[in-house]
Amino acid sequence: MENDYRKDFPLLKANKDLVYIDNAATAQRPECVIQAEKKFYEEENANPLRGFYPLSLAATDRYQGARETVKDFIHAKTADEIVFTRNTTESLNLTAYSYGLSHLKEGDEIAVTIMEHHSNLLPWQIVARQTGASLRFLECEPDGTFSPEVLKQGINEHTKLLAVTHVSNVLGCVNPVKEMASLAHQAGAVVVMDGAQSVPHMPVDVQDLDVDFLAFSGHKLMGPMGIGVLYGKKELLQEMPPFLTGGEMISSVSRESAVFAQVPQKFEAGTVNAAGAAGLQAAISYIQRLGFETIMKKEQELTARAMEGLAKLPYVKVLGSPDPKNHTGIVAFVIEGVHPHDVSEVLAADGIAVRAGHHCAQPLLEYLGVRNATRASFMFYNTPEEVDQFVESTASVRRRMGYGE
Ligand code: ALA
Repeated sequence: MENDYRKDFPLLKANKDLVYIDNAATAQRPECVIQAEKKFYEEENANPLRGFYPLSLAATDRYQGARETVKDFIHAKTADEIVFTRNTTESLNLTAYSYGLSHLKEGDEIAVTIMEHHSNLLPWQIVARQTGASLRFLECEPDGTFSPEVLKQGINEHTKLLAVTHVSNVLGCVNPVKEMASLAHQAGAVVVMDGAQSVPHMPVDVQDLDVDFLAFSGHKLMGPMGIGVLYGKKELLQEMPPFLTGGEMISSVSRESAVFAQVPQKFEAGTVNAAGAAGLQAAISYIQRLGFETIMKKEQELTARAMEGLAKLPYVKVLGSPDPKNHTGIVAFVIEGVHPHDVSEVLAADGIAVRAGHHCAQPLLEYLGVRNATRASFMFYNTPEEVDQFVESTASVRRRMGYGE
């Protein structure tokens, strides 16, 4: 089960029989990412943005260099549009608490797709509750597409904010964010895009999509856990109040008040995760060396192979589009009569790691009429043999759970 990529990943090298296909939950890290974090602590460790001695300046350079790398990666206009956070969830909460609470009011609508991860739903529920705005759900077809009527009705003159995931973490479909953003802007709304499942797998250009905010995590793109990104258009970030307050996010403080720092420092209170940023920078460089063309081709091949295999199994139903091209490496499925937790335990017994449950997308599953699902999610470093092993193991689940077939 070797391929050209697995040798770059210490965990995969050390566990030759592990079939790790839970990449939508978190990816594995290549050696260069682990080394970049290690190098920071061994050679550059000091508190960035504070000291004027060489080590602190080196830490600052590393941290700000990572910001530049992220800026180029997602095609932001300037590096100060990039705020480092802990993860997608924190980025979305920052946007909701800072932008949402200060801009929405009674009578306004927040358009949210039915397929949002809880991270791009719960913060808006709280904003709605606190401001008197209401949530309006954009319901998709079973294949994950949105009809023009749904978009037209859901994004209207009352809409002040559209919360949309670029790629569903359950269906794997890529949403037409550019078109949705255009509708939202015509209505005078801002667009908050969850890019957790897209940024690691395809080129994302925030200027081309014209989203106002983009949130994503480092760990899903092979970077460290605990570092995430919020992109925001500078003019919006500048007029937003801070989310967290404290160290290094101010320009001056008196007994009674404070003047806040410019963006992005205004949103980066306290000691930052500079080692995580260095690791994220290394992960982005790794992706760029490989190229999205290669990544997308490999992941497409693996997904098509998996879906072809699963399609032959009676009692197995894949959620979302029947076309593997609309799955971005994510294949969630149900097996008639078997709880996904049992499915994942049977697969685990064969050395296969998948996620089972509601995938933090309960409204979507309820809408699709299922309570839980099992999800396989592929990354370019998976192999066709791993996919075959997964399909074979899935084919055996019902028999091993006591069914005749
Ligand atoms: N949000 C991650 C997932 O979908 C954890 O699995």
